[in-house]
Amino acid sequence: FTPPYPPYDPTDKSGFSYDTVVRRWPVILTSVVDALHKTCHNLSLQLDLGDQANNDHVKRRIEEGKGIIEKVSKLKFDLNSPRKIPDDGEASVAVYNTELQGLADDNRNTWFTAPWLFAECYLYRLLRSYFVQTEHWRSYDPFYDQKMKTFQQSGKSIFHIAKTMHEIGVSEKDVQSDPENLRVLFSEMIQMCLWGNATDLSLLTHMSQADIHQLQSVGKESHAARKKFILRDDEETVWNYIRTLKDSRLDFILDNSGFELFTDLVFADFLITYTPYVSKVVFHPKLIPWFVSDVTPPDFRDTFATLSDASFFPLSTTELQVENEYLQEMVSRWKKYLDTGVFSLSVPVGTPLGGSTSSQPAEFWTTSRPYWDMETEAPETFSQLKGSDLVIFKGDLNFRKLTGDVQWPAWTPFSDAIGPLAGSFPLLSLRTNKADVVVGVSKETAEELDASATCLATSPVTTQEEVHHKVLILGGGVTGVIAAR
Ligand code: F6P
Ligand code: MG
Repeated sequence: FTPPYPPYDPTDKSGFSYDTVVRRWPVILTSVVDALHKTCHNLSLQLDLGDQANNDHVKRRIEEGKGIIEKVSKLKFDLNSPRKIPDDGEASVAVYNTELQGLADDNRNTWFTAPWLFAECYLYRLLRSYFVQTEHWRSYDPFYDQKMKTFQQSGKSIFHIAKTMHEIGVSEKDVQSDPENLRVLFSEMIQMCLWGNATDLSLLTHMSQADIHQLQSVGKESHAARKKFILRDDEETVWNYIRTLKDSRLDFILDNSGFELFTDLVFADFLITYTPYVSKVVFHPKLIPWFVSDVTPPDFRDTFATLSDASFFPLSTTELQVENEYLQEMVSRWKKYLDTGVFSLSVPVGTPLGGSTSSQPAEFWTTSRPYWDMETEAPETFSQLKGSDLVIFKGDLNFRKLTGDVQWPAWTPFSDAIGPLAGSFPLLSLRTNKADVVVGVSKETAEELDASATCLATSPVTTQEEVHHKVLILGGGVTGVIAAR
């Protein structure tokens, strides 16, 4: 599918991609170097002169770690053309290198001229190759500690949501006796799941702890207050569609680990436990560390262990004992769902919590390819999703891939912007806006927003970064759906 508009790229210095290349990537790469330094330092403390075999092993690991640090540091200052990804034995090398060659033929193969979507995905895949080519760092996730640390700071919201779920359970009969009750709860749940996407570590290069907390605050008032930030809301269409289902299968194309994944699990749990419409949920993670905070299979697995550990959240003091019981009640139900296949993770055999699929369907999520060509470029992924009654694409990057990250006018209908994917399977995008591409918004709203963005840009205290931050983060969430088969 060839869209009628060009992709976003950093040649436009007022766009978010330019800001990303010059400012955000260096911060992210520095965080990778810091994580490696820390791990190498901790390893050096383990050197025990008595155990020669162990020492040799640790020393080799440290040496390799230093090699990766050198490569990442070089990358940070390399503003020339990206090189081919080496044949490291992992997925999608040819996909990336062919696209890179196409860009080179077109003289657009530098960090500052390549399409943003391609360049950014390429960067994370290239990073991965540095680790894969070693002996001792193949399963190392340089973002793991960051993900865990931020998750740990989400305790307050997590306990609050666990309490809400417990209360729904207590009044289960009332809830189910009146469809209106279910609709209201559905609304709370989908909003929670949408706003869960606002906590994203690749953007936390300039967000304070208070900002995070604000974004995670849950409950009727905060949702009502945020309503005005929702640019496109197809919630009613989604609900009317879900109500036609019976014992159906939902798929989540996951985005971020930590709080967002928690909200995905809660939403899935709600639909399974308290409605007759859904009986199975398949979660799709990334197989490699991706865009800092995305869910990998180990993240998914560790989420359950973490939530079961009462000491993980610094807040779990005695006052929160009851809330913690509610949390444990919910997490035990999730574990049961995992054991019985009600919840499953779509990963190749052999991965933690691995299922029965081959690796191909999951590999597609870490290419840079737009989703409109999924049927031809990733037939296994496509046919897997064809079996779903609703595919929920979480987050900003999935939205960019759904729309190809091209410069659609904001009032382009969502169903046009996703090209041939429209009509393939029922799909829903739950996205808080962190990039330039926007579709499905009325012309009037788009113009109003552009005007207020100009206002922000001219106000005295705002730096260019803050403008992006405010407009893109607070600029609203989008829910778009095509719920017809
Ligand atoms: O580099 C910025 C950014 O890549 C977004 O523009 C991108 O889509 C986002 O980070 C990740 O957001 P999310 O986790 O919601 O996909
Ligand atoms: Mg993400």
